[in-house]
Amino acid sequence: MKITAATVLDNALLALPGGVTPGSIAIDRGWIIAINAPPKGWRRIDLKGRLVTPALVDCHTHIVHGGHRALEFEQRLQGASYEDVARAGGGIVSTVSATRAASLDALIAQSLPRVDALLAEGVSCIEVKSGYGLDIDTELQMLRAARAIATLRPVRIRTSFLGAHATPPEYRGREDAYLTDICLPALHAAHAEGLVDAVDAFCEGIAFSVAQTDRVFQAARALGLRVKLHAEQLSHLGGTQLAARHRALSADHLEYADDDDARALAASGTVAVLLPGAFYAIRETRVPPVQAFRNHGVPMAIATDCNPGSSPMTSLLLAMNMACTLFRLTPSEALAGVTANAARALGLTDTGTLATGIRADIAVWTAETQA
Ligand code: NIG
Ligand code: FE
Repeated sequence: MKITAATVLDNALLALPGGVTPGSIAIDRGWIIAINAPPKGWRRIDLKGRLVTPALVDCHTHIVHGGHRALEFEQRLQGASYEDVARAGGGIVSTVSATRAASLDALIAQSLPRVDALLAEGVSCIEVKSGYGLDIDTELQMLRAARAIATLRPVRIRTSFLGAHATPPEYRGREDAYLTDICLPALHAAHAEGLVDAVDAFCEGIAFSVAQTDRVFQAARALGLRVKLHAEQLSHLGGTQLAARHRALSADHLEYADDDDARALAASGTVAVLLPGAFYAIRETRVPPVQAFRNHGVPMAIATDCNPGSSPMTSLLLAMNMACTLFRLTPSEALAGVTANAARALGLTDTGTLATGIRADIAVWTAETQA
């Protein structure tokens, strides 16, 4: 429903930070004006007891990409690991070929059905990464495609520059030269065009070292950009500590993170983004240290990681379910993980909670609650 001016959603069940309570929510021109204090004379919509939550935020996706990875799926079913496929020249690099071959219009057209699947689930904000171009033109093209989505659908898009996602074939084994020649110039060009909201990297044995990631982060921060990191996904390399040192918005995956990493994330206020779709799809067996995150007070978010290789999923509701089933999050942790904590992972303070002065990004559910 499109609500513009002076409307009260009445007789609702509100998922407030402290718990679910019956009440009302007053909205004016896209902002929440009052909770449980309906202004007199405003148009009233009776929600008949339906549940109202903040609209959902998918804070980690690679939703803009060309092609598919069906062959890799079969290879992995036959026993190849995600790293085996990557080292044999498949994986991320095979999506790079398909993405370079796609036009801007084709990239947008292929992305929209994925976006629509998320929107149908109550998502209002999606983070989109580059990282399948790995040359200057295609990195920019991916980010332009991401920005275009927000003009074609009722969705807010936050972009992350992920030039340090993998080394393209033409720079294989020359990671530092790739950073110097392509990744850092692409970051500057994308930033100059207003295409970058944050900067991400993949810190891993098959991708970039801690020292190389540090180069990218220093360049980002010199431009005044916040950083985030794919860290400790397949091994414990030390990316989480680096991310914390750079006061990263988020550290993502984290299956191999430890108690010291959790302490560092808590101290830097960095969100731990859990990606159970990738854990599931690559048949990982090590679960992220959720109890350590709880013990140290690290906020936990959940995202789809929508991508054609390690997490071919477009359902944030399924990601919530998987975070509970596979990682033992509680349902209320899962809800916070796709609302308040997901917004925080993107540096957004105006969405993700039901509170006065916040954007009226809300989702209304036909759902029963326990008595
Ligand atoms: O988040 N870990 C690195 N990047 C993606 C995988 C991308 C791909 O396999 O295409 C991830 O899992
Ligand atoms: Fe990812």
